Amino acid sequence: MKPSFSAKYGPWAFITGASRGLGAEFARQCAERGLNVILVATNTEMLKAQSESIQKDFGVQTRTIALDLSREDILQHITPITGSLEVGLLVNNAGVSKVSPFLDLPLDRLVKQLHVNARAGLMLAHHFGKKMAERGKGGIIFLSSASAMYGTAYSANYAGTKAYNLILAESLWYELSPYGVDVLGFMAGSTKTPGWDANTPKTARFVKVMDVKPTVTEALKALGKHPSRIAGITNRLGYFLMGKTLPRHRAIRIVSGSMDKMFGPFGDEV
Ligand SMILES: NC(=O)c1ccc[n+]([C@@H]2O[C@H](COP(=O)([O-])OP(=O)(O)OC[C@H]3O[C@@H](n4cnc5c(N)ncnc54)[C@H](OP(=O)(O)O)[C@@H]3O)[C@@H](O)[C@H]2O)c1
Repeated sequence: MKPSFSAKYGPWAFITGASRGLGAEFARQCAERGLNVILVATNTEMLKAQSESIQKDFGVQTRTIALDLSREDILQHITPITGSLEVGLLVNNAGVSKVSPFLDLPLDRLVKQLHVNARAGLMLAHHFGKKMAERGKGGIIFLSSASAMYGTAYSANYAGTKAYNLILAESLWYELSPYGVDVLGFMAGSTKTPGWDANTPKTARFVKVMDVKPTVTEALKALGKHPSRIAGITNRLGYFLMGKTLPRHRAIRIVSGSMDKMFGPFGDEV
């Protein structure tokens, strides 16, 4: 018989970027499935509010870690709290996105984005993945994005970090499978969150903005079944057709042009 979600991925889930948006929903849905949750983000007040609401609604244990994931010493900061806890599920969700022409952004901001979106997930996957492999069970989810599929202008560094997450996840899916550890690269599409709103998108008739609940449910269902998954049937179909019918340079122009229409105008179409 297949083990239950909590038997396979419990007793603790470690979720980054859990103060709002997709991460907060991951924390709630993990708690709903019986997992205790460790919530990580920088905003102490929002972490406290999420933690209290999860305890009240689901009766599980919670811990919060207020930590800037762009720091190099994140493992030193988390071990005093996680050292004695069995983390069976890691959700590398924290991410920074700023839609803007590449050269308009200061380099230090781009480097920080690289560290939060990519380096932190790498360090945590190595740290917790080792312990999971020793126990012979566990799960790791990397939040990627549909922008990982093609070069995406005005989101160049972000898309690069998401491509890193996708390929790291798919590679580990194969490599850690003999150790009983499931890995998933989850490509969220446009999803209504504070992070999405902060980029002030205009409505675009060709983009279907999803809600956090079904998106997270889809990710948790895909874990253990697929190496990677694009959220939403419309997105999956769209990317499937684009891959089958268009040369890469045309797909990049379409994706990049739609960024300009949705968040710009930034520049002339090429
Ligand atoms: N929403 C979308 O349309 C969409 C699409 C594709 C992929 N994604 C991916 O899904 C994930 C979640 O996105 P979202 O839309 O829910 O984002 P969001 O609403 O902006 O939330 C981001 C989370 O990351 C945390 N965070 C940001 N910088 C951090 C740092 N330096 N250290 C620690 N925590 C930090 C934030 O908490 P604090 O501010 O408290 O630190 C917050 O909890 C991201 O990886 C994103 O790239 C989202």
